[in-house]
Amino acid sequence: MKTTLSVIKADVGSVGGHIKPSQRLINRIGEYVHDNMSGLVNDYYISHTGDDIAILFSHQQGVGDEDIHKLAWDAFLAGTQIAKEQGLYGAGQDLLKNSFSGNVRGMGPAVAEMEFEERPNEPFLMFAADKTDPGAYNLPLYLAFVDPMYNSGLMLSPSMNKGFKFTIMDVSYVEGDKVIELNAPEDIYDIAALLRDNQRFVIESIHSRNTGEIAVSVSTTRLHNIAGKYTGKDDPVMLVRVQGVFPATGEVLSPFNIGHFVAGFMRGSHTGPLMPVTKNSAVSYFDGPPIVSCLAFCVHNGKLTQPADAFDHPYWDWVRDRVSQKATEIRAQGFSGAAMLPYSELEYGGIVDKMERLEARFRVRS
Ligand code: F6R
Ligand code: MG
Ligand code: MG
Repeated sequence: MKTTLSVIKADVGSVGGHIKPSQRLINRIGEYVHDNMSGLVNDYYISHTGDDIAILFSHQQGVGDEDIHKLAWDAFLAGTQIAKEQGLYGAGQDLLKNSFSGNVRGMGPAVAEMEFEERPNEPFLMFAADKTDPGAYNLPLYLAFVDPMYNSGLMLSPSMNKGFKFTIMDVSYVEGDKVIELNAPEDIYDIAALLRDNQRFVIESIHSRNTGEIAVSVSTTRLHNIAGKYTGKDDPVMLVRVQGVFPATGEVLSPFNIGHFVAGFMRGSHTGPLMPVTKNSAVSYFDGPPIVSCLAFCVHNGKLTQPADAFDHPYWDWVRDRVSQKATEIRAQGFSGAAMLPYSELEYGGIVDKMERLEARFRVRS
């Protein structure tokens, strides 16, 4: 049976700042999907990561389907109504356009989708991150799909011996989707040369070269490009199929123990370590640190199992302690150097005015 998984996420309001959504808001979105899914959706699951709510759909409509996208959009609109009623902060923040126009891509919500022929058992992972951007997945995906130091299956399993095809998008290009396809292992130096620049080059998808099947789909939205001004970081979602011809769940999770430094954190303008968290976690310290959650499911005949919360384990408590230390260390240097993003990536316009005013006061000495 052919199944499509679509995860569509948006921040439509939160309690006490950009921290987490209210329970009533989450309930309303669930209720809306439940009441309007009939004949369209096989199953769904709703969770939040920081201030972002993710709706995971299992259906048979294929990727980019107008009805599925409209259902998500309308559910977020229904949620926004509650957010406004409750006076939540940033109500409707990620719904950047006034009316739905066929596809949520380019309208604010982040979306990752994949269609595949279901294997007899079909395990997959849904990642959702807050206070960071899609480039945050570059390094963990590179390590999980290219590097035998993290993916032992690349050495041990004949079903991954041909490697993987990476489709990488230049997200600074706004006229359309500008993508390149590169193959691991033979192109890994080229892949690395692109992926080191997390703000510009983002992995969009990965395919198995043994079977041609899709393994990974990442949301590549840049809210900055859509709105032309600050509206929040792009808080990416990602789907990863695991086991068999794909890396094992634990191989995909393993690079997340690095707590690598990503863009985001306070005001989307800083550098902070990515902390793996349990489902429905809030953000806190300095509106962060940047967080990522991972729910592991199986899908069978279109029905989702209950999720296993992949970062809910004593091992990850130890990782979280280390990541907290890294966050504290980089924050100690405040605005200086590597602690803040370069000028072009700052998410607030205030500094532009400041620089213009100061520029006028500079004098060139003769
Ligand atoms: C970052 C984020 C927060 C806000 C910050 C200020 O993505 O959402 O760090 O940037 O709380 O928020 P405003 O400008 O809404 O007062
Ligand atoms: Mg927000
Ligand atoms: Mg967010």
